[in-house]
Amino acid sequence: MDSFLIRGGTRLKGKIEISGSKNSALPIMAACLLADGKTTLKGVPRLSDIDSMCKLLGELGCHVFRHESDHEGIGGGPALNGPLDIDVTDKTQCEARYDIVKTMRASICILGPLLAKRGKAVVSIPGGCAIGDRPVDLHVRGLQKLGAEFRTENGNIIGTVNGRLKGCRMYLGGAQGPTVLGTINVMCAAALAEGETVLVGAACEPEVLDCAELLIKMGAKIKGHGTPELRIEGVDKLNGTEHRIIPDRIECGTFMIAAAITNGELELKHCNLDHLIAVTDRLEDVGVRVLRENGTIFVSSSRRLTPVEMTTQPYPGFPTDLQAQLMALLCLGEGMSVITERIFPDRFLHVGELNRMGARVRKEGPTAIVQGVKELQGASVMASDLRASAALVLAGLVAKGTTRIDRVYHIDRGYEKIEQKLNAVGAQIERVKEK
Ligand code: EPZ
Repeated sequence: MDSFLIRGGTRLKGKIEISGSKNSALPIMAACLLADGKTTLKGVPRLSDIDSMCKLLGELGCHVFRHESDHEGIGGGPALNGPLDIDVTDKTQCEARYDIVKTMRASICILGPLLAKRGKAVVSIPGGCAIGDRPVDLHVRGLQKLGAEFRTENGNIIGTVNGRLKGCRMYLGGAQGPTVLGTINVMCAAALAEGETVLVGAACEPEVLDCAELLIKMGAKIKGHGTPELRIEGVDKLNGTEHRIIPDRIECGTFMIAAAITNGELELKHCNLDHLIAVTDRLEDVGVRVLRENGTIFVSSSRRLTPVEMTTQPYPGFPTDLQAQLMALLCLGEGMSVITERIFPDRFLHVGELNRMGARVRKEGPTAIVQGVKELQGASVMASDLRASAALVLAGLVAKGTTRIDRVYHIDRGYEKIEQKLNAVGAQIERVKEK
């Protein structure tokens, strides 16, 4: 288990290349199970969650091969990765074991593709995780409406289909709004179902759109992707194709905040600011300058920031996956900010760790009251989940002295070469082996 030692206080300046989206790549990799033949995916980041998905697909009869990188890194940063081939060679296996599911909840994404293509899926039930309960009832409900039958046995969800799935009209929203991976699971299954599926209450996140675009290239008939009403006309067969994964909007937002928190100047290459409209809106409100030129974003800040109120919401609202990072920034604002978490109301494990660094954050139910302080101090802190850990890295970049973050494997699940990328623009982050 590695740790980070971060010497704070440097102003970040330079260029960073944004990787492909983890949250788009994972369900898209699972969707490759639907195709006959080989699919080549470009822009798949090299992360431990992606390695877990490769392993899972290998166990499900896919030949997975990563090509060498075809270009140099930008501005002294690391080179991005070569394309990933996923070729389905054996269609007999249908099980996602607990060993893999417990390390990566996105394993649930194989449920829809396996049921539609192989008529059976056995997926270990994902347990709770650091950000809350995270049930999968909506995934199961949507697939049941398409005709799949489910039972649970020894900690596994076992789904079977008698014949072929059948399209229908359904509502898929839950108490906290739409479900991203649930929408993708049902959309994937409906792509090979008989007849039309109308999915009302669908998630509109760019990752859903990206997966729909992959499926369309494979031969699926999908309309309305990116809106709350998806229409899918089932087809008999899907074929392997080529697809480039969208840029990671959460990595991009994290680096935008890195520029802001260090009063720095960053040029973020290969990103899509359209996917970050609510984030840009909040950052501009706190006093950060954000400019766009083609696929590049210029972010800079040069003064103490104004406090704001922010509530996480489904897309296009402010993403829950950037809540912790924005909190790190607001800890240094000039006054009191209020953050409300509407997607995962318990996603506040970073609060205690930020307070250990001198922040003044008080939690009241799903809301955090952040009283800005003049400075943060380096401390030993613990990474608890992916985005909470990213918030601690941001706080460490600006804290006085040295911050030690233990258990950085959480960060490695979702940020490709984060310390190399940040060090290339002036950060001082050292990776050390935990004693
Ligand atoms: C995806 O998780 C992302 N994961 C999460 O990113 C992200 O936080 C989340 O979407 C919300 O944007 C991946 O893409 C791999 P949801 P997902 O189903 O799809 C409730 C990160 O840090 N719900 O949209 O699993 C749920 O509890 C991660 O990269 C049900 O009630 O999230 C939550 O309150 C973490 N029943 C809300 O819906 C269900 O069956 C939205 O969750 C499913 C979800």
